[in-house]
Amino acid sequence: MSANLPPALRAALERLAGRFSGRDLAAASHRLTADYRAGRGSRLPAPVDLAAYAIARMPATYAACAAALTEAAARVFLAPRTLLDVGCGPGTASWAAAEIFQDLVRATLVDAHAGMTALGRDLAAEGPALLAEADWQAGRLEGVAPATADLVVASYTLNELKPAAVADAACGLYAATRGVLVLIEPGTPAGFAVIAAARTALMTGGARIAAPCPGEGACPIVAPDWCHFSARLPRLRAHKAAKSADAPFEDERYAYLVAARPHLRIVAAPARILRPPHADKAATTFTLCTGAGLTQHVVASRDRDAHRLTRRLGWGDAFPSEQPEPP
Ligand SMILES: C[S@@+](CC[C@H](N)C(=O)[O-])C[C@H]1O[C@@H](n2cnc3c(N)ncnc32)[C@H](O)[C@@H]1O
Repeated sequence: MSANLPPALRAALERLAGRFSGRDLAAASHRLTADYRAGRGSRLPAPVDLAAYAIARMPATYAACAAALTEAAARVFLAPRTLLDVGCGPGTASWAAAEIFQDLVRATLVDAHAGMTALGRDLAAEGPALLAEADWQAGRLEGVAPATADLVVASYTLNELKPAAVADAACGLYAATRGVLVLIEPGTPAGFAVIAAARTALMTGGARIAAPCPGEGACPIVAPDWCHFSARLPRLRAHKAAKSADAPFEDERYAYLVAARPHLRIVAAPARILRPPHADKAATTFTLCTGAGLTQHVVASRDRDAHRLTRRLGWGDAFPSEQPEPP
């Protein structure tokens, strides 16, 4: 799955950028970044703030959502037909879900901020039918009804709750799914703390964990370490201008969790690569989470078979590759 925005979303964001002055968008984007870094959540009072969120952050949150949803599709045997996107913002996760889950026919998107759902509806007007005809609702995630959709997703949302509210909120979202719940959060220690609290609460509630964890035991990661991954995304013209940035790409760090109802078949990764592999002439060293804990796995360059099987693997991938490499 590509981290590139779908062309219809890219065009909608470029059109949105055209409605504001570059200077106003850049100023709003800097306020947003300061809020994000300070862990203040998204306070988006004016249309320019909402537009800056969509232009500056949506490409990155899209890349993270696409990566997490791709892994969900690979790990859980389910072809969802209905989608609930909670704390949907401008609809980021739903755009990614529409690309990945081709059987989706109905989407409901809920956000506490009516300006966000209005913006999302506007961006989706010329998007895929799933988004253009979606039911956009102003509402709170705490109020979602049980068994609402086959796939429930909340991206970059639970970190906006008080930490003590995360476990109940995650269980409420799990109750809302008939199949799979996917949570995506910033790849920071605070974002991982949200994922870890949700994981514990969901497992206690009977959920199966399909990704990224290779096992369903206690999480072996201990602070100050945290489990997170990285998605590389190309920057749009408007995106670069809003962020006053020149580099043609950026790396979005994210943490995620895929939880499934127990009746579904899941195939968890045998192990998960937790950092960029370290390679030198003699060997490549992988830091792995296995069902039994964390370990360093060394593949010697002279071990041709093992080297061929693992040489393309990177941070976040399952280990070892389940698909044989082409010769
Ligand atoms: C950082 S934005 C993420 C938006 C989108 N999911 C994305 O990935 O780009 C967080 C969103 O969660 C919404 N939100 C926060 N708390 C909420 C709650 N209790 N119920 C519903 N939405 C909430 C905010 O209004 C905001 O739009």
